[in-house]
Amino acid sequence: MQVLNALKSDKKDVIKFCKNTFSWGDYISEIWDYWYLEGNLFVVRENNSPVALSHASISKKDQQVWIEGIRVNPNFRRKGYASSLIQHSENQAIKNDCLSSFMLIETNNKNSLELSKKLGYVIKETWNFFSLLPEKSIASQIEFTKTNTKVFDLMRSLELFYVDSWRWYPLNDQQLSLLVENQQIIYYNDNDEYSVAVITSSKHFAKTMIVTLLFGNDLGIKKLLDYSKHLANLQNFKRIQVLTKLNKINDSQDIIKKLSFYLMWKKLE
Ligand SMILES: CC(C)(COP(=O)(O)OP(=O)(O)OC[C@H]1O[C@@H](n2cnc3c(N)ncnc32)[C@H](O)[C@@H]1OP(=O)(O)O)[C@@H](O)C(=O)NCCC(=O)NCCS
Repeated sequence: MQVLNALKSDKKDVIKFCKNTFSWGDYISEIWDYWYLEGNLFVVRENNSPVALSHASISKKDQQVWIEGIRVNPNFRRKGYASSLIQHSENQAIKNDCLSSFMLIETNNKNSLELSKKLGYVIKETWNFFSLLPEKSIASQIEFTKTNTKVFDLMRSLELFYVDSWRWYPLNDQQLSLLVENQQIIYYNDNDEYSVAVITSSKHFAKTMIVTLLFGNDLGIKKLLDYSKHLANLQNFKRIQVLTKLNKINDSQDIIKKLSFYLMWKKLE
C-alpha cells in the first residue's frame, strides 16, 4: 500500500464515502479544492480509486504540521491506511524541519483517539465549539490590544493557542504582533480583569467568522461576544464559530454548544 498525492479528479470518488461520516455530515466536499491547491493532500488507492485521504498543513514558520481530514472508506478500515497517511504527513513535516504535529479529535470519537494514541499523540488541551449568529446590536466597549500594554504582556506570559481556519497555532510573539497590527485581538477590561478574544475569518468556509475566546470573566465574555455579533453583522458574515477552552459561557442565551475536541500533539523527531 502506498500513500500518494491526491489528484484533482479524486474528488468525485472521495465525496462518495465522505457524506455521512459524522452525525452532522461531513465537510470534505466543501474543502477539497482548497486543500488540493494548498498541496500535501494525500490518498491511498485500491483498484485505482481513492479509499482514504488526509491533508497536512505544514507551517514552516511555526515548525508544525496540522493533520486534518483523515477519512477511510468504511469498507477499507483497520488495514492501517489512516496510520500510513498520518505517518506520511509526519515524514513530510520532518523534511520541512517541523518539530510538532497536531490534530483535532472530537472527544467522543474513540476510534480516532485510539488511533492517535497508538501513533504517539497525547491530549494537549480540550476545546469547545459554540455557535452564534451575527446580530444587529449596539457595539460594546471593547478595545483593541496594543503592544507594550498590560494585556499584551499577560498574553505573552501564557502559553496560548489561537484558531485560524480550524487550525490551532501558538500565539508566539511574532503572531501576537501581527494580530495586534491587524486589530484582530479584542479585549475588555473589568477592573483589571481582562477578557480576550482573537477574531479571524475562515479561509475555507464562506462568510464564517471564527472567534478564539482565550480567557475572561462573565461580563468581559459577554462584551466580547456582543462585539463579535455586531462586527459579524456589519461585515456580512453568516455565522460565528466560537472556539474556547472555557467549558461554559454564561450570560448569553443565543450561544449554542456544539462539540468538544481534544487538541492532540506529538513531538516530531
Ligand atoms: C478513525 C479512522 C480514520 C481509522 O482509520 P483506519 O484506517 O481504520 O485506522 P488504522 O487501520 O490505521 O488503525 C490504527 C489503529 O487505530 C485504532 N483504531 C482504528 N479504528 C478503530 C476502531 N474502530 N476501534 C478501535 N480502535 C480503532 C486501533 O488501535 C488500530 O490499530 P489495530 O487495527 O492494530 O488495532 C476511520 O475509522 C475513519 O475514517 N473514521 C471516520 C472519520 C474520522 O473519525 N476521522 C478522524 C477525524 S479526527
